[in-house]
Amino acid sequence: MLRLILLGPPGAGKGTQATRIVEKYSIPHISTGDIFRKNIKEGTELGRRAQEYMNKGELVPDDLVIEIAEARLLEEDCKNGYLLDGFPRTVYQAEKFDEFLQEKAAKIDKVIDIEVAAEELKKRIIGRRVCRSCGASYHVDNMPPKKEGVCDVCGGELYQRHDDTAETVDNRISVYNEQTKPLTDYYEKTGRLARVDGAGDTDAVFAAIVSIIGE
Ligand code: AP5
Ligand code: MG
Ligand code: ZN
Repeated sequence: MLRLILLGPPGAGKGTQATRIVEKYSIPHISTGDIFRKNIKEGTELGRRAQEYMNKGELVPDDLVIEIAEARLLEEDCKNGYLLDGFPRTVYQAEKFDEFLQEKAAKIDKVIDIEVAAEELKKRIIGRRVCRSCGASYHVDNMPPKKEGVCDVCGGELYQRHDDTAETVDNRISVYNEQTKPLTDYYEKTGRLARVDGAGDTDAVFAAIVSIIGE
């Protein structure tokens, strides 16, 4: 049983590290951002509602997020644990999530906060490219695909997320500082927080995370 939360600003490397963590520990990767993007792609009502906030770099309203996150966590594959990426993202979401856990007599093992300076975040976000088919993430300079515009994993087309623009990135970072950063205190008070320096290369960051979780 292993329940983990990845915290950290936009572009910190949550998705990149999540892919490796879930492979090593055999738990599902649950990203609320990915759930919203899937719904946008499929043209659902949820996607339509989420999109107007995401495109501006604002948070999707708490009640909507909590509902979809909890529904996902009740699925069969989550019964032996999970890795949350991008949820909870406000103190209200964290409180509601703690109530949800208490009802099930469950607990979070570790909250891993990946820290990266704002200038580096901007470079990472603006250079990011994502596979339309499998969701693999690349960076035009730091992690280029073997062939430009084509996914190494599945051959799918790489695209730039709507919210990965120079105009939106500053707002996303300030929304993070105002609404999500207070969660580090929330989890620190209950002794669940571990901080990781996210400035190194992806192998170094992953090694630091594994040393926190344990082999
Ligand atoms: P979400 O999809 O969660 O996006 P985010 O938090 O803004 O984070 P990102 O996905 O941009 O960054 P990441 O940390 O995953 O970085 P990555 O590994 O890709 O949320 C999107 C939106 O959905 C929100 O704005 C909000 O509107 C809504 N939403 C989602 N959840 C919500 C919630 N709970 N409540 C309310 N609203 C919610 O890496 C970034 C780039 O850097 C990549 O190109 C990568 O290749 C590169 N990179 C990664 N690691 C390194 C490294 N060590 N060195 C160099 N480059 C690196
Ligand atoms: Mg991500
Ligand atoms: Zn792919």
